[in-house]
Amino acid sequence: MTRPMVEAVDVHKRFGHVEVLRGVDMTVMAGEVSCVIGPSGSGKSTFLRCINHLERIDAGEMKVDGHLIGYKMHGGKLHELRESDVAKQRRDIGMVFQRFNLFPHMTAVENVMEAPCTVRRTSRKAARESALGLLERVGLGHRGDAYPTQLSGGQQQRVAIARALAMEPRLMLFDEPTSALDPELVGEVLDVMRELARDGMTMVVVTHEMGFAREVADSLVFMDEGKIVEAGAPREVLSNPQHERTQAFLSKVL
Ligand SMILES: Nc1ncnc2c1ncn2[C@@H]1O[C@H](COP(=O)(O)OP(=O)(O)O)[C@@H](O)[C@H]1O
Ligand SMILES: [Mg+2]
Repeated sequence: MTRPMVEAVDVHKRFGHVEVLRGVDMTVMAGEVSCVIGPSGSGKSTFLRCINHLERIDAGEMKVDGHLIGYKMHGGKLHELRESDVAKQRRDIGMVFQRFNLFPHMTAVENVMEAPCTVRRTSRKAARESALGLLERVGLGHRGDAYPTQLSGGQQQRVAIARALAMEPRLMLFDEPTSALDPELVGEVLDVMRELARDGMTMVVVTHEMGFAREVADSLVFMDEGKIVEAGAPREVLSNPQHERTQAFLSKVL
């Protein structure tokens, strides 16, 4: 029996007068991978940031693993949670960005240990052991003592993935994780993500890597102007897009 891990219902988000999410519905079941594509400015990053309440939604509902994100129901009304409670919810949600944002003054293993040590109060010894295991898992067991500047972009992004995994998230969000990489480094990052998916991680991935989407994703979502225009099995959407705007977008990127 699987359960919904992400349930977005009629999510709206405005910046000033501009409504950048105009009613987004999306369900991702536990263990599934959903890839999100769409033109620049269509609201993909904003939507991801709404999933972990880095952005507050203006209307609709966002649930992760059955829990409202950023709010609680009290007396029939929604109340925004305190920042410390939101932070607790976020611990279960790993996020990987286009720019890896590693701490430059820390080695790879220290980067991975950081959150478990400071947030979870894990002992340094235990955190180090598990960090080395995670670096092994992303193919960097031998580079634990390297500083970010000593690593390639692809290696840094794999450290960033290990760092997100260190908090044992139930859900991983990826925002164009390979867009900043030199082409020859894209594959090693996608390989790590493919492995994660195979191990059953629930993932929402904003990407323009159509090969990855086709092969790994359970569903492919096309967003445009703050709305989901089309969603379905990746092969279906990619080879037989129903909507004119999806066709136009795919003809440019495929
Ligand atoms: N913090 C912000 N303040 C104002 N406008 C924003 C902010 N973040 C994003 N936007 C706007 O929202 C729209 C959607 O942006 P974004 O979610 O980054 O799109 P995408 O990731 O699909 O390129 C864009 O028009 C962008 O300029
Ligand atoms: Mg974006």
